[in-house]
Amino acid sequence: MQMNRNPKQSSPLISIPNRWPLFILLVFTLSTTIAFILRASFGGNSCDASQYDDQFRNHMGSKYGFGGGKTENNVNDEGGIENPLSFMKSKVVLMVSHELSLSGGPLLLMELAFLLRNVNTEVVWLTNQKPNDEDEVVYSLEQRMLEKGVKVFPAKDSKAVDTALKADLVILNTAVAGKWLDAVLKENVPRVLPKVLWWIHEMRGHYFKLEYVKHLPFVAGAMIDSHTTVEYWKNRTRERLGIKMPQTYAVHLGNSKELMDVAEDAVARRVLLEHVRELLGVRKEDLLFAIINSVSRGKGQDLFLRAFHESLQIIQEKKLKVPVIHAVVVGSDMSAQTKFETELRNFVEEKKIQGRVHFVNKTLNVAPYLASIDVLVQNSQGRGECFGRITIEAMAFQIPVLGTAAGGTTEIVVNGTTGILHPAGKEGVTPLAHNIVQLAADTEKRRIMGEKGYERVKDTFLEKHMSHRISIVLKQVLQKSKSHR
Ligand SMILES: *[C@@H]1O[C@H](CO)[C@@H](O)[C@H](O)[C@H]1NC(C)=O
Ligand SMILES: *[C@@H]1O[C@H](CO)[C@@H](O)[C@H](O)[C@H]1NC(C)=O
Ligand SMILES: *[C@@H]1O[C@H](CO)[C@@H](O)[C@H](O)[C@H]1NC(C)=O
Repeated sequence: MQMNRNPKQSSPLISIPNRWPLFILLVFTLSTTIAFILRASFGGNSCDASQYDDQFRNHMGSKYGFGGGKTENNVNDEGGIENPLSFMKSKVVLMVSHELSLSGGPLLLMELAFLLRNVNTEVVWLTNQKPNDEDEVVYSLEQRMLEKGVKVFPAKDSKAVDTALKADLVILNTAVAGKWLDAVLKENVPRVLPKVLWWIHEMRGHYFKLEYVKHLPFVAGAMIDSHTTVEYWKNRTRERLGIKMPQTYAVHLGNSKELMDVAEDAVARRVLLEHVRELLGVRKEDLLFAIINSVSRGKGQDLFLRAFHESLQIIQEKKLKVPVIHAVVVGSDMSAQTKFETELRNFVEEKKIQGRVHFVNKTLNVAPYLASIDVLVQNSQGRGECFGRITIEAMAFQIPVLGTAAGGTTEIVVNGTTGILHPAGKEGVTPLAHNIVQLAADTEKRRIMGEKGYERVKDTFLEKHMSHRISIVLKQVLQKSKSHR
């Protein structure tokens, strides 16, 4: 269904010239990626667990392992600065994941597991809902964890209960994982709750169910990916369920070292850029405005394409001298969202902009696209993204962001400095169109916004920053749980 004007486009991004440096090979090795997947990314994903399944993530592996400290000691490679998580050494942490898949929630928890392993924390992992059959993804991810010294136990037997009782800290991941508490711990629930840190990434109404979150008021703390989402949870739990959130921390995520390595390597970027542009059949001097998200109405690809069409009209009407612009929709999946996908393609055909709009199937690996585009459009609708990791990933590649003024995006994008915000909903279409034209017409503005975005990432959204933020929460939660003994 892709608008292929060039037969090469129909091949996925896996043809790899031999001369490419090793790390690019790694970046492109998709078939075996699963075994190496190191981290999740919420990039472009709202914190809605129902969409985790169709999330497609990047951060492919590198054989050097997870981007934490490379060594087992407490010195990181920033030059002898103590790892903020080093106080977790020898602590026992039980992680409860509601499922295990290549989706945002579980991968992010794995990421934390590896950060803790880097400081010699004893980490035990339980997956509450596992497929009955042998599942290749589950197997690969578990292997990866075992290699890193994470202990993987069955979620529902007495060993799980014993571990929960002896652990210093229990991390429940996502609201849905709340189901595990009563089902497994039974009468032991009250003994475990004071040492539970509940990490929540969802922000859709159907997670506000007592069945999932009735124990929430009694845990030591909750950790949520953005301030906006914290506020939302506080409101909803109070108003809908009549319960009170525990001490709740907003903790922004950070970019992996692997992603930063590619983003900061000019040669790698250029190679990726040439490759992707050739695949898409666009010229070097053309401008690419990309939306990188699983295709669904909540992510706003429909409104983006309308805005894009409007921007083409503005350029034509005003006879503006701007480079040829293209829209790239990365995250297509005809088998999952057929109706919506068809609607998008019909729109493109109806407006006769086939030559300017490119659909790319969803992929685990977004780095090649980030290396190739000029502007990221983050068009998530409604309450927006819980965080939106793709936003900080794009900024790492010095790409300005045109984002909806909603959710986590407003905490990442500095309006007018690292990008431009437009309203969510239909009323955002025309503002977005104008913003597209504005950035298309102004090379210098794009460059400066990209640079400022990169600086912001370096100041705030790196893995080390995330480690630091999480360490503050873990310290407080540990203290609280100790006072309960
Ligand atoms: C939470 O509720 C307060 C008052 O009811 C409101 O002002 C605020 O906008 C709400 N916040 C969110 C995120 O819904
Ligand atoms: C994209 O996915 C569709 C099925 O959803 C498949 O038919 C098509 O070949 C894929 N395209 C590429 C370039 O892999
Ligand atoms: C963002 O800035 C633009 C102008 O640069 C302004 O029109 C818009 O209202 C601002 N949006 C927000 C949410 O501040």
